[in-house]
Amino acid sequence: MDVRKIKDDVINEIKEIKDSKVLYDIRVKYIGKKGIISELVSNLGKMTIEEKKEYGPIINTLKQEVIKLFDDKNNEIELNVLNEKLKNEKIDISLPSVKVPIGSPNILEKLIEEVEELLISLGYDVVDGPEVEEDKYNFEMLNIPKGHPARDAQDTFYIKGEEILLRSQTSPVQVRTMLEYKGEKPVRMICPGKTYRRDDDDATHSHQFMQIEGLLVDKDISLSDLKGTIDIIVKKLFGENIETRFRPSYYQFTEPSVEVDISCFNCKGKGCNICKHTGWITVAGAGVVHPNVLKMSGYDPKVWSGFAFGFGAERLAMLKYGIDDLRVFYNTELRELATFDRKESD
Ligand code: DAH
Repeated sequence: MDVRKIKDDVINEIKEIKDSKVLYDIRVKYIGKKGIISELVSNLGKMTIEEKKEYGPIINTLKQEVIKLFDDKNNEIELNVLNEKLKNEKIDISLPSVKVPIGSPNILEKLIEEVEELLISLGYDVVDGPEVEEDKYNFEMLNIPKGHPARDAQDTFYIKGEEILLRSQTSPVQVRTMLEYKGEKPVRMICPGKTYRRDDDDATHSHQFMQIEGLLVDKDISLSDLKGTIDIIVKKLFGENIETRFRPSYYQFTEPSVEVDISCFNCKGKGCNICKHTGWITVAGAGVVHPNVLKMSGYDPKVWSGFAFGFGAERLAMLKYGIDDLRVFYNTELRELATFDRKESD
């Protein structure tokens, strides 16, 4: 048995091999089950103890060495294949990558969420109400009886006769919440939601828009509580330096009623296009809840008092993000919506 020769044969046979499949076949020829070296190993069984002692280690060493030859050769072939591949598949890392556009929440939603978060932290519940509403809640229980001229201002969409309509304001949710609380416990709620009016759509009007309604009923509540609350909301949205001003106004369901103005964040009160050169911008209607409204909703006005407010959500968002056309909130032009994201991160 010429161990040296077997090893040299292997070395010669695999020297020029470039394909791992071919290499594998040669490997089988030598160390496969019936391979040349495997035969030698199984022949050991037939030998005498002395012969085994002599040849055993030699054959074993041969086997290990040959296995190593095959493994090294195989690694070499694989490395060559990889290098060849890399050479042919050049990747130009200087090419610009394909950008996958990422979606983001609508900015109107974002603004509403910001207000919600703040008011939740002040102990308010966020509640919902139906958009298809009864006249009773949208008007009557808000102290606006049938035939009252205040109804005309709200160009309402009636759905069925005079009783079922698309809510023209989120204020009916005040009534619904008070009824649910049964006149027994304090109320702190906000209701952001869609409202509808028979408006022609233009840059500042839409037949559908959103309001953020708020109501607080408790004991010893006064106009100053309303002022403080509005001030916190406005400062959160527009910054600490923004001032709030209340102007007398008129709503059937509040007494006194006010119009809430904020100091113009753009010109800081000097006068510009945004504030129509007045230095102030109107953002909400509000007031102290009218005793009739409390009474109709089951709250005794001798015991309870409260305040309410209604922000125009689009108006807030337009001011906050510098948008001059309200229709963009409802279109699906992604390129346009993406610019608001950029503005926000500026
Ligand atoms: N609902 C009123 C509107 O749509 C806005 C409003 C005014 C809401 C005064 C209120 C409020 O809660 O107290 O014009």
